[in-house]
Amino acid sequence: MFFLKTLCNSVKTSLTLWLKKSKCVSPTVSHYICKMESKEWFESWFDTTYYHALYKNRDDDEAKLFVTKLVQFLNLEARTKILDLACGKGRHSITLNELGMDVLGVDLSKNSIERAKKHENETLKFDVHDMRDPLSIDHFDAVFNLFTSFGYFDDYSDNEKVIRSIHQMLKAEGILVLDFMNSEKAISTLVLNEIKNEDGIEFSINRNYDGKHIYKNIQFSDAGKSFQYTERVQALKLIDFENILISHNFQIIHTFGDFNLNPFDEKTSDRLILIATKK
Ligand SMILES: C[S@@+](CC[C@H](N)C(=O)[O-])C[C@H]1O[C@@H](n2cnc3c(N)ncnc32)[C@H](O)[C@@H]1O
Repeated sequence: MFFLKTLCNSVKTSLTLWLKKSKCVSPTVSHYICKMESKEWFESWFDTTYYHALYKNRDDDEAKLFVTKLVQFLNLEARTKILDLACGKGRHSITLNELGMDVLGVDLSKNSIERAKKHENETLKFDVHDMRDPLSIDHFDAVFNLFTSFGYFDDYSDNEKVIRSIHQMLKAEGILVLDFMNSEKAISTLVLNEIKNEDGIEFSINRNYDGKHIYKNIQFSDAGKSFQYTERVQALKLIDFENILISHNFQIIHTFGDFNLNPFDEKTSDRLILIATKK
Protein backbone atom coordinates (compact mmCIF):
# COMPACT_ATOMS: atom_id res chain seq x y z
CA MET A 1 0.00 0.00 0.00
CA PHE A 2 2.80 2.37 1.00
CA PHE A 3 4.73 1.40 -2.15
CA LEU A 4 1.64 2.04 -4.29
CA LYS A 5 1.07 5.45 -2.68
CA THR A 6 4.73 6.45 -3.16
CA LEU A 7 4.66 5.26 -6.75
CA CYS A 8 1.39 7.06 -7.32
CA ASN A 9 2.77 10.30 -5.86
CA SER A 10 5.88 10.22 -8.04
CA VAL A 11 3.83 9.38 -11.16
CA LYS A 12 1.47 12.19 -10.21
CA THR A 13 4.34 14.68 -9.78
CA SER A 14 5.99 13.73 -13.11
CA LEU A 15 2.66 13.77 -14.94
CA THR A 16 1.66 17.10 -13.45
CA LEU A 17 5.01 18.63 -14.45
CA TRP A 18 4.77 17.16 -17.93
CA LEU A 19 1.15 18.25 -18.38
CA LYS A 20 1.95 21.74 -17.15
CA LYS A 21 4.90 21.95 -19.56
CA SER A 22 3.01 20.62 -22.56
CA LYS A 23 -0.08 22.75 -21.68
CA CYS A 24 -2.20 20.18 -23.51
CA VAL A 25 -4.37 18.59 -20.77
CA SER A 26 -5.53 19.71 -17.33
CA PRO A 27 -3.15 18.61 -14.53
CA THR A 28 -6.12 17.18 -12.65
CA VAL A 29 -5.99 14.28 -15.14
CA SER A 30 -3.01 12.90 -13.21
CA HIS A 31 -5.07 13.02 -10.01
CA TYR A 32 -7.72 10.79 -11.58
CA ILE A 33 -5.09 8.39 -12.98
CA CYS A 34 -3.77 7.92 -9.43
CA LYS A 35 -7.26 7.64 -7.93
CA MET A 36 -7.90 4.71 -10.26
CA GLU A 37 -4.95 2.90 -8.69
CA SER A 38 -5.43 3.56 -4.98
CA LYS A 39 -8.89 4.14 -3.54
CA GLU A 40 -9.38 6.40 -0.56
CA TRP A 41 -10.32 4.51 2.64
CA PHE A 42 -13.94 5.69 2.65
CA GLU A 43 -14.43 4.56 -0.97
CA SER A 44 -13.42 0.98 -0.25
CA TRP A 45 -14.41 0.25 3.37
CA PHE A 46 -17.98 1.61 3.29
CA ASP A 47 -18.63 -0.42 0.13
CA THR A 48 -17.73 -3.82 1.62
CA THR A 49 -20.15 -6.41 2.97
CA TYR A 50 -17.94 -6.47 6.10
CA TYR A 51 -18.78 -2.83 6.87
CA HIS A 52 -22.48 -3.71 6.72
CA ALA A 53 -21.89 -6.79 8.90
CA LEU A 54 -19.97 -4.83 11.56
CA TYR A 55 -22.60 -2.09 11.77
CA LYS A 56 -25.67 -4.27 11.21
CA ASN A 57 -27.10 -3.26 14.57
CA ARG A 58 -27.03 0.44 13.78
CA ASP A 59 -30.07 1.81 15.48
CA ASP A 60 -32.95 2.31 13.02
CA ASP A 61 -35.41 3.28 15.76
CA GLU A 62 -33.04 5.95 17.01
CA ALA A 63 -32.71 7.28 13.42
CA LYS A 64 -36.53 7.36 13.13
CA LEU A 65 -36.94 9.24 16.38
CA PHE A 66 -34.21 11.74 15.47
CA VAL A 67 -35.61 12.52 12.03
CA THR A 68 -39.16 12.82 13.38
CA LYS A 69 -37.95 15.31 16.02
CA LEU A 70 -36.08 17.29 13.36
CA VAL A 71 -39.12 17.49 11.07
CA GLN A 72 -41.23 18.74 14.00
CA PHE A 73 -38.62 21.21 15.20
CA LEU A 74 -37.97 22.62 11.71
CA ASN A 75 -41.70 22.64 11.01
CA LEU A 76 -41.15 21.02 7.62
CA GLU A 77 -44.24 20.82 5.46
CA ALA A 78 -45.18 17.85 3.28
CA ARG A 79 -43.38 17.78 -0.10
CA THR A 80 -40.36 19.65 1.28
CA LYS A 81 -37.41 18.73 -0.96
CA ILE A 82 -34.68 17.09 1.12
CA LEU A 83 -31.26 15.81 0.12
CA ASP A 84 -29.87 13.12 2.46
CA LEU A 85 -26.17 13.54 1.72
CA ALA A 86 -24.14 10.37 2.47
CA CYS A 87 -27.36 8.47 3.15
CA GLY A 88 -25.83 4.97 3.50
CA LYS A 89 -28.63 2.40 3.12
CA GLY A 90 -31.17 5.20 3.51
CA ARG A 91 -32.51 4.75 7.05
CA HIS A 92 -33.09 8.52 7.55
CA SER A 93 -34.32 9.06 3.97
CA ILE A 94 -36.96 6.36 4.38
CA THR A 95 -38.39 7.95 7.55
CA LEU A 96 -38.29 11.43 6.03
CA ASN A 97 -40.27 10.10 3.09
CA GLU A 98 -42.78 8.36 5.39
CA LEU A 99 -43.28 11.77 7.01
CA GLY A 100 -44.30 13.20 3.63
CA MET A 101 -41.03 14.67 2.33
CA ASP A 102 -39.67 14.41 -1.23
CA VAL A 103 -36.29 12.81 -0.64
CA LEU A 104 -33.18 12.13 -2.66
CA GLY A 105 -30.55 10.08 -0.84
CA VAL A 106 -27.04 9.94 -2.27
CA ASP A 107 -23.95 8.06 -1.21
CA LEU A 108 -20.58 7.11 -2.68
CA SER A 109 -21.09 3.43 -1.88
CA LYS A 110 -22.68 1.52 -4.77
CA ASN A 111 -23.60 -1.38 -2.48
CA SER A 112 -25.41 0.87 -0.01
CA ILE A 113 -27.34 2.59 -2.78
CA GLU A 114 -28.25 -0.77 -4.31
CA ARG A 115 -29.81 -1.76 -0.97
CA ALA A 116 -31.49 1.63 -0.52
CA LYS A 117 -33.03 1.50 -4.00
CA LYS A 118 -35.29 -1.36 -2.87
CA HIS A 119 -37.28 1.31 -0.95
CA GLU A 120 -37.67 3.73 -3.85
CA ASN A 121 -41.05 5.21 -4.81
CA GLU A 122 -42.29 8.31 -6.67
CA THR A 123 -41.02 10.67 -3.97
CA LEU A 124 -38.03 8.71 -2.65
CA LYS A 125 -35.03 8.23 -4.89
CA PHE A 126 -31.43 7.13 -4.34
CA ASP A 127 -28.27 7.62 -6.36
CA VAL A 128 -24.53 7.10 -6.22
CA HIS A 129 -22.86 10.48 -5.85
CA ASP A 130 -19.76 12.07 -4.31
CA MET A 131 -20.73 14.73 -1.76
CA ARG A 132 -17.88 16.98 -2.92
CA ASP A 133 -19.73 17.68 -6.18
CA PRO A 134 -22.97 19.65 -6.41
CA LEU A 135 -26.07 18.10 -7.98
CA SER A 136 -28.78 20.58 -9.01
CA ILE A 137 -28.35 24.26 -8.11
CA ASP A 138 -30.80 26.14 -5.79
CA HIS A 139 -32.96 23.04 -5.68
CA PHE A 140 -33.33 21.65 -2.15
CA ASP A 141 -35.20 23.11 0.82
CA ALA A 142 -32.95 21.19 3.18
CA VAL A 143 -29.77 19.12 3.13
CA PHE A 144 -29.19 16.55 5.88
CA ASN A 145 -25.71 15.17 6.51
CA LEU A 146 -26.12 12.69 9.35
CA PHE A 147 -24.22 10.34 11.63
CA THR A 148 -20.67 11.65 11.22
CA SER A 149 -20.63 11.57 7.42
CA PHE A 150 -18.10 14.38 7.20
CA GLY A 151 -14.37 14.91 7.80
CA TYR A 152 -13.09 11.82 5.98
CA PHE A 153 -10.83 13.47 3.45
CA ASP A 154 -7.01 13.66 3.29
CA ASP A 155 -7.21 17.21 2.18
CA TYR A 156 -9.02 19.69 4.44
CA SER A 157 -9.97 21.72 1.36
CA ASP A 158 -12.34 18.86 0.47
CA ASN A 159 -14.39 19.81 3.57
CA GLU A 160 -14.83 23.19 1.97
CA LYS A 161 -15.87 21.58 -1.32
CA VAL A 162 -18.65 19.75 0.51
CA ILE A 163 -19.93 22.86 2.30
CA ARG A 164 -19.69 24.96 -0.90
CA SER A 165 -21.59 22.33 -2.82
CA ILE A 166 -24.33 22.13 -0.13
CA HIS A 167 -24.65 25.92 -0.28
CA GLN A 168 -25.08 25.80 -4.06
CA MET A 169 -27.68 23.04 -3.91
CA LEU A 170 -29.87 24.78 -1.31
CA LYS A 171 -32.57 27.28 -2.16
CA ALA A 172 -32.30 30.74 -0.56
CA GLU A 173 -32.69 30.38 3.22
CA GLY A 174 -32.51 26.61 2.82
CA ILE A 175 -31.59 24.54 5.88
CA LEU A 176 -28.51 22.44 6.56
CA VAL A 177 -28.62 19.80 9.31
CA LEU A 178 -25.16 18.46 10.10
CA ASP A 179 -24.89 15.73 12.74
CA PHE A 180 -21.33 14.90 13.83
CA MET A 181 -19.74 13.10 16.78
CA ASN A 182 -18.91 15.38 19.72
CA SER A 183 -15.16 15.10 19.18
CA GLU A 184 -14.31 16.44 22.65
CA LYS A 185 -16.26 13.66 24.38
CA ALA A 186 -15.30 11.03 21.78
CA ILE A 187 -11.61 11.69 22.52
CA SER A 188 -11.98 11.72 26.31
CA THR A 189 -13.97 8.45 26.33
CA LEU A 190 -12.17 6.62 23.52
CA VAL A 191 -12.40 2.82 23.92
CA LEU A 192 -8.94 1.75 22.80
CA ASN A 193 -9.55 -1.96 22.18
CA GLU A 194 -12.71 -3.89 21.50
CA ILE A 195 -13.78 -7.26 20.04
CA LYS A 196 -17.10 -7.58 18.20
CA ASN A 197 -18.67 -10.73 16.76
CA GLU A 198 -21.05 -10.23 13.85
CA ASP A 199 -22.18 -12.71 11.17
CA GLY A 200 -19.66 -15.29 12.43
CA ILE A 201 -16.72 -12.88 12.05
CA GLU A 202 -14.59 -11.67 14.95
CA PHE A 203 -13.71 -8.01 14.42
CA SER A 204 -10.76 -6.75 16.45
CA ILE A 205 -11.02 -2.97 16.79
CA ASN A 206 -8.31 -0.57 17.99
CA ARG A 207 -8.80 3.17 18.28
CA ASN A 208 -6.41 6.06 18.68
CA TYR A 209 -6.26 9.84 18.43
CA ASP A 210 -3.26 11.63 16.90
CA GLY A 211 -4.19 15.21 17.80
CA LYS A 212 -6.15 15.72 14.56
CA HIS A 213 -7.96 12.50 13.65
CA ILE A 214 -9.67 9.61 15.40
CA TYR A 215 -8.57 6.31 13.88
CA LYS A 216 -10.44 3.05 14.10
CA ASN A 217 -8.37 0.10 12.98
CA ILE A 218 -10.48 -2.94 12.13
CA GLN A 219 -8.91 -6.40 11.66
CA PHE A 220 -10.60 -9.70 10.95
CA SER A 221 -10.32 -12.96 9.03
CA ASP A 222 -12.84 -14.54 6.72
CA ALA A 223 -12.55 -17.79 4.72
CA GLY A 224 -8.87 -18.04 5.62
CA LYS A 225 -8.03 -14.51 4.46
CA SER A 226 -6.97 -11.63 6.73
CA PHE A 227 -8.39 -8.15 6.28
CA GLN A 228 -7.53 -4.78 7.71
CA TYR A 229 -9.30 -1.44 7.27
CA THR A 230 -8.82 1.90 8.99
CA GLU A 231 -11.55 4.48 9.44
CA ARG A 232 -10.12 7.96 9.88
CA VAL A 233 -12.27 10.93 10.84
CA GLN A 234 -11.08 14.47 11.48
CA ALA A 235 -11.80 15.33 15.13
CA LEU A 236 -13.66 18.52 14.20
CA LYS A 237 -15.05 20.65 17.02
CA LEU A 238 -17.75 23.29 17.22
CA ILE A 239 -15.26 26.07 16.45
CA ASP A 240 -14.13 24.28 13.25
CA PHE A 241 -17.73 24.00 12.03
CA GLU A 242 -18.42 27.61 12.97
CA ASN A 243 -15.41 28.72 10.93
CA ILE A 244 -16.20 26.70 7.84
CA LEU A 245 -19.96 27.38 7.86
CA ILE A 246 -19.73 31.10 8.52
CA SER A 247 -17.02 31.55 5.86
CA HIS A 248 -19.31 29.81 3.35
CA ASN A 249 -22.30 32.06 4.02
CA PHE A 250 -24.23 29.93 6.44
CA GLN A 251 -25.77 31.18 9.65
CA ILE A 252 -25.83 28.70 12.54
CA ILE A 253 -29.22 28.98 14.20
CA HIS A 254 -29.13 26.04 16.65
CA THR A 255 -26.75 23.50 18.14
CA PHE A 256 -28.02 20.33 19.80
CA GLY A 257 -26.17 17.67 21.74
CA ASP A 258 -28.15 14.50 21.12
CA PHE A 259 -30.86 12.89 18.98
CA ASN A 260 -33.53 14.13 21.41
CA LEU A 261 -32.43 17.67 20.56
CA ASN A 262 -31.16 18.54 24.03
CA PRO A 263 -28.73 21.49 24.23
CA PHE A 264 -25.09 20.91 23.23
CA ASP A 265 -22.45 20.67 25.95
CA GLU A 266 -18.86 20.13 24.79
CA LYS A 267 -17.95 17.94 27.78
CA THR A 268 -21.03 15.73 28.09
CA SER A 269 -22.99 15.63 24.83
CA ASP A 270 -22.81 12.55 22.60
CA ARG A 271 -23.42 14.44 19.39
CA LEU A 272 -22.84 17.84 17.85
CA ILE A 273 -25.91 18.66 15.74
CA LEU A 274 -25.81 21.94 13.85
CA ILE A 275 -28.74 23.63 12.17
CA ALA A 276 -27.69 26.35 9.75
CA THR A 277 -29.42 28.41 7.08
CA LYS A 278 -28.13 29.60 3.72
CA LYS A 279 -27.57 33.36 3.76
C1 LIG B 1 -21.09 6.68 8.99
S1 LIG B 1 -21.87 6.33 7.47
C2 LIG B 1 -23.45 7.09 7.71
C3 LIG B 1 -24.46 6.67 6.70
C4 LIG B 1 -25.89 7.21 6.94
N1 LIG B 1 -25.93 8.65 7.01
C5 LIG B 1 -26.46 6.60 8.19
O1 LIG B 1 -26.58 7.28 9.20
O2 LIG B 1 -26.80 5.41 8.16
C6 LIG B 1 -21.01 7.42 6.36
C7 LIG B 1 -21.46 7.34 4.92
O3 LIG B 1 -20.76 8.31 4.14
C8 LIG B 1 -20.56 7.81 2.84
N2 LIG B 1 -19.51 8.58 2.16
C9 LIG B 1 -18.20 8.62 2.44
N3 LIG B 1 -17.57 9.47 1.63
C10 LIG B 1 -18.51 9.96 0.79
C11 LIG B 1 -18.47 10.89 -0.29
N4 LIG B 1 -17.32 11.46 -0.65
N5 LIG B 1 -19.62 11.19 -0.93
C12 LIG B 1 -20.79 10.59 -0.57
N6 LIG B 1 -20.89 9.70 0.45
C13 LIG B 1 -19.77 9.40 1.12
C14 LIG B 1 -20.19 6.36 3.11
O4 LIG B 1 -20.30 5.55 1.97
C15 LIG B 1 -21.15 6.00 4.24
O5 LIG B 1 -22.34 5.43 3.74
